[in-house]
Amino acid sequence: MLSPAADTRWISLADENALVAAACRRILRAADEAIAARGRFLLVLTGGQTPKAVYRQMAEIDADWAAWHFYFGDERCLPADHPDRNSRLACETWLDRVPVPKQQIHVIPAELGAVQAAARYQASLQDVADFDLVLMGLGEDGHTASLFPGQDWGLSVAAPTTLAVFDSPKPPSERVSLSGARLGRSREMLFMVTGQGKRDAVARWRAGEPLPAAAIRPPSGVDVLITPPLAETASI
Ligand code: 6PG
Repeated sequence: MLSPAADTRWISLADENALVAAACRRILRAADEAIAARGRFLLVLTGGQTPKAVYRQMAEIDADWAAWHFYFGDERCLPADHPDRNSRLACETWLDRVPVPKQQIHVIPAELGAVQAAARYQASLQDVADFDLVLMGLGEDGHTASLFPGQDWGLSVAAPTTLAVFDSPKPPSERVSLSGARLGRSREMLFMVTGQGKRDAVARWRAGEPLPAAAIRPPSGVDVLITPPLAETASI
């Protein structure tokens, strides 16, 4: 069992609209701090459907987009224009709608297959410093990114930056993921969790079960935005 990490902060919002607003505030605050301190903002996007409303809202905001650099926590091994690609969701809802320099959007070339894409993505990250903010989702089995229970989460210090995943229980089976170690190299980490389907995963996380989402421990801890009724499950 993992000790319930004191550095996991559960933040309950009134509803999904409030969660979207809170997530956007957090992203913009992290961006302001990073750009003021280092002249650029290194943000890792999560896949899945939960962040869709956040990405749409972010596209409406006037930010210093020339200083933003986008990465992906994971990608599905599908054609680049496939509707289920995480990169397609992010581009359609946000990145194609703001003036971010295209070379600052670091899409995982997952259409090449997991091994080649993981190698290319790893090479592209070789000289990239710690991320400023990593956005994360939570699967119903406690997975995050493409790190699934019973598989290698890449948490050791010797772990590679990227993992080729071949037996994902969430389709498609073939994916590329940042390793848990590389995801954890971030100043901040923000989970966005909504929906009844996540109740069991939240309860198990709170109970200290060794789930992928619970195992990634960036130095400054993790913030988890949730909405009722998950808040009751998380007893917060
Ligand atoms: C993916 C995601 C995955 C996702 C969770 C939650 O590629 O599927 O990276 O980790 O964040 O499965 O997905 P939902 O937000 O759709 O519930």
